[in-house]
Amino acid sequence: MKNRLLGSSLSVSSLGLGCMGMSHAYGTPLSEADAFVLLDRAVELGVTLFDTAEVYGPFTNEELVGQGLKRHRDKVAIATKFGFTIGDAAKAERPSGVDSRPAHVKAVAEASLKRLGVEVIDLFYQHRVDPDVPIEETVGAMADLVKEGKIRYLGLSEASAATLRRAHATHPIAAIQSEYSLWSREVEENGVLETCRQLGIGFVPFSPLGRGALTGALKDVKTLSDTDFRRALPRFQAENFEANLTLIETLQAMAHEKNTTAGQLALAWVLAQGDFIVPIPGTTKIANLENNIAAADLTLSAGDLLTLRDLLSPAKVKGERYPEQMARMANR
Ligand code: ATR
Repeated sequence: MKNRLLGSSLSVSSLGLGCMGMSHAYGTPLSEADAFVLLDRAVELGVTLFDTAEVYGPFTNEELVGQGLKRHRDKVAIATKFGFTIGDAAKAERPSGVDSRPAHVKAVAEASLKRLGVEVIDLFYQHRVDPDVPIEETVGAMADLVKEGKIRYLGLSEASAATLRRAHATHPIAAIQSEYSLWSREVEENGVLETCRQLGIGFVPFSPLGRGALTGALKDVKTLSDTDFRRALPRFQAENFEANLTLIETLQAMAHEKNTTAGQLALAWVLAQGDFIVPIPGTTKIANLENNIAAADLTLSAGDLLTLRDLLSPAKVKGERYPEQMARMANR
């Protein structure tokens, strides 16, 4: 797989691997043994960017990813995130659900280093902007961690373009990670993608497969387990999802014509939006991982890209990507 640059100097495979689903959010977690086999296979296929967060589990996903990548440490970049409050006591103290005060940033970095079992975190993201803490203070704390040799590169997640600019003026930001896919294009509207292009900041799309929906594998939301996070998302409510499924079927038809898969079209489309973009599709299955990685070699014509843009244009998609309370945490 070819490499792409996040910011001025973090070189990673053009597709990374989102590891959240191995422990969190989408039904039954993977066993440790299965996760290790999957991580080994990803490294074998050339993946060098692995994405986790303190809040996935919470805590267990960092341990799993750190352990599974131990013997590949010199070949891979591990990205993790801080900034949610975890546990009831923390919530009572910070009703906003987020905490990017400098002392908290530093405490999480120490704890993440331990859980990951690494000397340095390659890319440390603020998971959501804390409206009560100026971004300069948070980024200042992150910059201290760089000076101390505990983190290599800085990132933000779901921040607004204005916040990203302020952060980057405080210390270079290597990447912003936000949702971006055929059916989630807010970052095209709110200036975040354009800001990355202008400032030379990498963009890491999460959920590039629309949380799996864009692969066409999910036919009926009733089959999702009771604990599956997608049950809380407007787009996955039965009446919306049924309408969205008809759009996804058109994507599948196009894939069939091109002898590829809907998921590969979705990934190739995101990859084609700029060479500063490194999507991190998530999976728990080796066959799906292989299918996703193959998308890095799929080149689409300008006409195909426009057709795809139209097939799932925002006006056609039913339901928001987040319920209100979660939407409020984004783009601020
Ligand atoms: P996220 O970034 O939130 O992990 P995503 O990458 O858009 O979201 O999609 C992840 C979902 O897509 C997972 O539910 C994953 O399910 P598996 O663990 O069963 O693979 C699903 N997924 C990923 N690649 C897939 C593929 N090639 N075919 C079908 N489903 C796939």
